Order: sequence, then structure tokens, then C-alpha cells
Amino acid sequence: MTNTNPKKLIRALNGETMASPPFWFMRQAGRYLPEYREIRATAKNFLKFCYTPDLAVEVTMQPLRRLHTDAAIMFSDILVIPDALGQDVAFKEGEGPVLEPIRNVQQLDKLSTDGLHDHLSPVYEILSRLSKEIPETTALIGFAGAPWTLAIYMVEGRGGTECGTARMWDYRDPVGFKKLIDLLVEAVSIYLIRQVEAGAEALQLFDSWSGVLSEDQFKRLVIEPNKQIVDRVRVVHPHIPIIGFPRNAGTKYETFVKQTQMNGVSIDHSVGLEWARTHLQPHTCVQGNLDNHVLITGGDALDEAVHEILQTFTDGPFIFNLGHGILPQTPPEHVERVAELVRQWNGN
Ligand code: CP3
Repeated sequence: MTNTNPKKLIRALNGETMASPPFWFMRQAGRYLPEYREIRATAKNFLKFCYTPDLAVEVTMQPLRRLHTDAAIMFSDILVIPDALGQDVAFKEGEGPVLEPIRNVQQLDKLSTDGLHDHLSPVYEILSRLSKEIPETTALIGFAGAPWTLAIYMVEGRGGTECGTARMWDYRDPVGFKKLIDLLVEAVSIYLIRQVEAGAEALQLFDSWSGVLSEDQFKRLVIEPNKQIVDRVRVVHPHIPIIGFPRNAGTKYETFVKQTQMNGVSIDHSVGLEWARTHLQPHTCVQGNLDNHVLITGGDALDEAVHEILQTFTDGPFIFNLGHGILPQTPPEHVERVAELVRQWNGN
């Protein structure tokens, strides 16, 4: 039924099993590439760089030329949403993102979705230009941060912590914290709907910080908001494939998959291959899950890890990817090696 689509990534997300699976890499555009660093050096401010279509389109295309991936992921960042809602967001050299934190329900008054589409219009232009520029076998992926992960950065003011401030706000004042989550459900839903209209052919929701939550918080702050976004996007675009990524969710991945009903799930490298094959793949297309540190290591360890993943998952719907983004110290030749191994794979 679906094998007429020239884009393997879309076919996999529609449930097709392929002996030679599609692949792409999270953070396939980035500082590990010399050609990225060269363009990045011309723009001082990272957010401005993300909002400049000429630059963002060019860096999206760079990994396609080198690696011939089955997907292009638009170059942007998840933190354009807090920025578009009116929060102060800055990317500091060597420090990562820094935001002016929001710590209570009164401070939510500063945020609004009113100017969201105007503010994000460069992102829509990037997608529409890319949809004309990429090869016809390549799928264009749009994305957003999921509400909990966005809330972490908005409340903590940065990532990389145990997310204690946000978790304690939720324990202390679940009604107030839910107002922030609801605002983000609204913002992310209208943003993704517009991305599809601009040319995105699949969507990924990044919930990178879902691994720190208790079971009850995971249900309320990860599963429910992700599901609400999926439902809202599908009312307008019923056939758009959506991939979820509740990173480090462990066995909670299974509930996530069953309850959110997404077309694909991206799994981090800590998820057992055999476990994912039996518990997740019967319900959805699995995407993953090479360790980004074995990618840095290279050599036999890398070849073996790639083969093990391919061996495990190619009897069902599958997209080869990493368990998390490519790190800046990764040798580009190692990424090229993986692309070659996946392309050559024929089930042996
Ligand atoms: O190629 C692609 O995958 C598309 C681009 C992309 C970026 N960020 C570009 C980027 C995507 C999909 C993201 C998502 C993102 N951003 C996430 C979710 C995925 C994940 O990694 O967990 C998160 C949590 C962020 C927030 C963020 N942006 C952080 C923590 C940092 C700093 C860390 C770092 O690597 O510097 C960024 C900056 C960022 N986003 C860079 C890139 C290429 C590096 C900035 C630079 O070039 O100076």
C-alpha cells in the first residue's frame, strides 16, 4: 500500500519493514562538522543564526551532502518556543542555553502565544525552502521540544541539572505548574501544525529530560501532554507521522508508546535491544539507538554495535539513528562509516 512513497523514512513510520532501513542522525548538523563551524563562526548569536533562513538551510543541507541520510532535520533549536513566548533566552559560549527563570504561576503572565507565528516565521520559511531543495527520496523532519523538557529550561534557567526546581514546583503547586504545561501544549501544537503546512513531512517531539520523573509525574507531565499534542496535530493533519522521544524513560517507554499512539519512538542507548524488539516494535516503528560515545570511539566497537542494532530491529519497522545527538568531538569519518554500514546492510 505504501511502497510507492520514494521516502523510506515515511514508509517505515507507516509500518513497513525494510531489509535496508532508513537512517539519519540526531544533531547531524553541528560542531563536529568543519563546514558547520565555518558558517557558525560568521554568526555571533546562536538564536539569530537559527532565524536566518540562508544559514539554516545551508547547514541543514551539509550532512545530506556528506552522509546521504534518508532525512533532513530542519536546523533550529527547541528553545525557540520559550523565546517566541517572550522569555529571555541566550546561548552562552561554552555554557549552553541560559534563560531568565520562571518560578511561579504569577510569572506566567509574562508569556503569551499571541506573537508566536510572527516570531517563528523564519522557521516556516526554512522548511518551505528545504522542501524544494532536498532530494525526492529524503524526508523533511520538523520538530519541537515536548512541554516537560521545555519547562525544565524555562524553570531551571538551564539544562543539565536534576530538574529539582521544576519537580518541586509541580509537587508544591500542581495546578499552577499545569498552567505552564498547558501553555506549552498549546504553543507546541500550533507550531507543529504550521510546520506541516510549511513542508515538514514528519515530526519529532524531543522529551530529553523525561528520565528524571517519578511514575506519576511521567504520566501527567510526559504522557498526557505528548498525547494532547498528537491529538491536536492529527485533527488538522491526520496522516502526518509523529515520532516521540522520552529519553531515558526505561521501562516507561512501553506505556508511553501504548498511550501516545505515535508512529515512531526514538530510544536512547540504555534501552535493551531485545526488550525494545519485543515490547515496543510490535506497537510502533523503533528509531535508535547507537551510543553517541561508541560513535566517538570508532573501530571494531563501533562496527559491532551498529551490526547488533541492525540485526535486532530489521525484522520490523525501524529507523537507524543514535540514542542521543552527535557530540562536537565526534570524528566525521566515524559518522560516514556508520552511514556506509547501514546502507550496505541486507539482513546478514
Ligand atoms: O541536526 C539536528 O539534529 C537539528 C538541530 C538541533 C539543534 N538542537 C541544534 C543545536 C536539534 C534537533 C536540537 C534540539 C535540542 N536543543 C534539544 C533536544 C535534543 C537533545 O539534545 O536532548 C535540546 C535539549 C536543545 C537545547 C540545547 N541547544 C542545548 C542544551 C544546547 C547546548 C549544548 C551544545 O551542544 O552546545 C543547544 C545548542 C545547539 N542546538 C547547538 C546546535 C547545533 C550548538 C550550538 C552552537 O553551534 O554553538
